[in-house]
Amino acid sequence: MSLLDHAKAVRENAYAPYSNFKVGAAVQTASGTIYTGVNVENVAYPEGTCAEAGAIAAMCAAGDRKIVEVAVIADSPTPVTPCGGCRQKIAEFAQPDTIVRMYTTGGAQLDMTVAQLLPGVFTADHMANT
Ligand code: THU
Repeated sequence: MSLLDHAKAVRENAYAPYSNFKVGAAVQTASGTIYTGVNVENVAYPEGTCAEAGAIAAMCAAGDRKIVEVAVIADSPTPVTPCGGCRQKIAEFAQPDTIVRMYTTGGAQLDMTVAQLLPGVFTADHMANT
């Protein structure tokens, strides 16, 4: 099963009763393992947590840390791009040239690198003087 297939399959489990916008995400790590996540909303915080953050949380919980590829899919007119917070989270565990593959359920695809998605990323290097 491809990374896209994992993201597509897990998207079915998204819990998005407030936005009705289901998102599925999958990250592959250097070990070859794939971790998946969905967006999860709740009545007090209807913006919920993003699918990408869910996949990264599953990866971390498993003790895995190095992302080599990301896939995200939603039923949107154009491929869904990760929110700002998720871009920073992805950057934490990926390389600047890591590919983020974004899809619509209709079959459109957009590939961008982490550096393209988050130019000028804040890194630990910025704290080198501390
Ligand atoms: N969402 C994601 O899960 N990933 C994205 O990249 C964009 C937005 C979710 C959060 C919320 O549940 C819904 O989409 C609408 O913002």
